[in-house]
Amino acid sequence: MSQFSYKDGVLHAEGASLSAIAGEFGTPTYVYSKARLLANFASYADACQGRDALVCYAMKANSNLAILDLLAREGAGFDIVSGGELLRVLAAGGDPRKVIFSGVGKSVEEMRLALSHDILCFNVESIPELHRLNEVAGAMGKQARISLRVNPNVDAKTHPYIATGLKASKFGVAFSDALETYRTAAALPHLQVSGIDCHIGSQLLDDAPLLEALDRLIELIDQLGAEGIELHHLDIGGGIGIDYREAGESAPVPVGDYLGRLFAKIDAWRNARHDGKPIKVIFEPGRSIVGDTGVLLTRVEFLKHGEERNFCIVDAAMNDMARPALYQAWMDMQPVVQNGAAAATYDVVGPICESGDWLARDRALAVEAGDLLVMHTAGAYGMTMASNYNTRGRAAEVIVDGSVCHLVRQRENPADLYALESLIK
Ligand code: LLP
Repeated sequence: MSQFSYKDGVLHAEGASLSAIAGEFGTPTYVYSKARLLANFASYADACQGRDALVCYAMKANSNLAILDLLAREGAGFDIVSGGELLRVLAAGGDPRKVIFSGVGKSVEEMRLALSHDILCFNVESIPELHRLNEVAGAMGKQARISLRVNPNVDAKTHPYIATGLKASKFGVAFSDALETYRTAAALPHLQVSGIDCHIGSQLLDDAPLLEALDRLIELIDQLGAEGIELHHLDIGGGIGIDYREAGESAPVPVGDYLGRLFAKIDAWRNARHDGKPIKVIFEPGRSIVGDTGVLLTRVEFLKHGEERNFCIVDAAMNDMARPALYQAWMDMQPVVQNGAAAATYDVVGPICESGDWLARDRALAVEAGDLLVMHTAGAYGMTMASNYNTRGRAAEVIVDGSVCHLVRQRENPADLYALESLIK
């Protein structure tokens, strides 16, 4: 069930009215439901019950400290892609021993930082990266635990910008090079080969490609075992999609069902070929943990009726939510107050000086200037992809817990945006 629903004609987040939230904190503001966040995490945790499994939340989806803290308290680990993300985990009280580090371009400094905090594993994406990590770990007198990101060449059938498991992708090591790359890794003195990982893409509406990728990983793990390279974990990445049309009501692939099918496959394999000996399983979900926990609350500045199109100009823009502009993503928009007025068809656009600055197109909306709107399912890849384009401060963020609202990030002031700049002398 969605935590965003109408009560007496006003949209609420849990027990808090979004009109009241706009009054208190202003707009644009991201509003998240704590209950939804915990329920989403529980759908993974429950399916992993009693197993050696770790859910490493892909924090690029939403890295607000309060969200990280809530998840860390539930036992989550974190999938990071930068030193900055590791510092966020630490600032939120997360456990670095549950951190895995993904990404194709880890710098020497980032490797040092991660090694100094003894993270669980580096998900390595190339041979040069193996050598760099070996050198950095050696200089620190440490051993780095590594996994290789293998590219299983499976078509995730998603938007090309977020499909990552095909041969032409910049990510991972080609399946055909994987054995040789593992041999290289195993021979490097400051690396400890620990696992295998993949991530084939995001917003997958079917788990078949993920199960196909799992088959390929299993094949490699057995081939490596035959050579004496024993892996201790397998990491299937993130990727399960969410429903952008019926926010919170249903999921294209319920997480429990997907995990059930995945564990059944793993158990059958371990029973058939490894005397039932389990292997640790890691997940890296992002969107399915936070996507439907959040809305972007915005106010209508003006309505502009044109010859060909009508525009609903709001105070949120592509700098707050880039997904429509970047991926032509369809995000649901609804008025906060149901006023019963006649609807007209609008393009919902922001104040930024680009035609690409739109949030929704061709939507029937009953709105007037000054009304509040929400963009649903905005909890993932919303605030984390926000920019300061047009010297616009980033939005405030609020977490609702029952009827209590917590401001978890203040709105940025323009002065904050140029505070690091200086004039030449
Ligand atoms: N692991 C790795 C290595 C990843 O690259 C990603 C996402 C994830 C896990 C989490 O995937 P998820 O469970 O969220 O699908 N900005 C785009 C999505 C980019 C995804 C990048 N990688 C969007 O707004 O749709």
